[in-house]
Amino acid sequence: MRRKLLVANWKMNFTMSETLSYVTVLLSELKAAGDADVAIAPPFTTLYSLGVLLAETNYQLAAQNLHWEESGAYTGEVAGSFLKDVGCRYVIVGHSERRQLFGETNVTVQKKVAAALRDGLVPILCVGEKLDEREANRTWEVIEGQLHTALQDLRAHDLEDFVIAYEPVWAIGTGKNATEAQAAEIHKMIREWLSRRVDGITAERTRILYGGSAKPENSRALLGQPHIDGLLVGGASLDAKKFAAMIRNLP
Ligand code: PGA
Repeated sequence: MRRKLLVANWKMNFTMSETLSYVTVLLSELKAAGDADVAIAPPFTTLYSLGVLLAETNYQLAAQNLHWEESGAYTGEVAGSFLKDVGCRYVIVGHSERRQLFGETNVTVQKKVAAALRDGLVPILCVGEKLDEREANRTWEVIEGQLHTALQDLRAHDLEDFVIAYEPVWAIGTGKNATEAQAAEIHKMIREWLSRRVDGITAERTRILYGGSAKPENSRALLGQPHIDGLLVGGASLDAKKFAAMIRNLP
């Protein structure tokens, strides 16, 4: 059985005091995450403090990015071991905003996935097609290329705890989520690909999240699909009450 996983991706939002207010509201709504895994990915600057604020709860910590080197002269970068050191369990890798705005390629994403595993973090590997790619019927080709490169050096034992997030780029921050059927189709294809590329056990174990305008109004229906194991939530996660509602909607 795959445990459901809900991840709040705060992106570049929230100062320390805003983080404090958020946690106050979230914990007054829901003291604990229940049976599912619920993680919050704040900016680097508040990771440590958020971890302290959530220390007595079962909410988990995630980072939004990492660098693939272990340490050294890489001004502005953060290593996976540093994220682990402040209590991170997960790290988002290859988010479409990093690919589109910060020049990340399938190759740099692959290095980051490998680094996350080396450093004891669970990668949340983001894949997804742009609108023009979907319209040109290239959706699966794009996703398969992203998966193929990111996982090319990995074997079943590397993938014991691994998360993939299907995030159609046209659905991110647009208010226009993929329909349940659209998401379910791709999730099934990803799982079948894992089964072919790795093995059936890994395919069954890997959690595949959906991301792209997920919100309280659509989360229950999305999570009701057989291959959707959780959600990566941007905009709606910035409102603690909405995020709490989505936690309550977990099956
Ligand atoms: P959104 O973002 O929920 O605001 O569409 C999702 C994401 O970028 O992970």
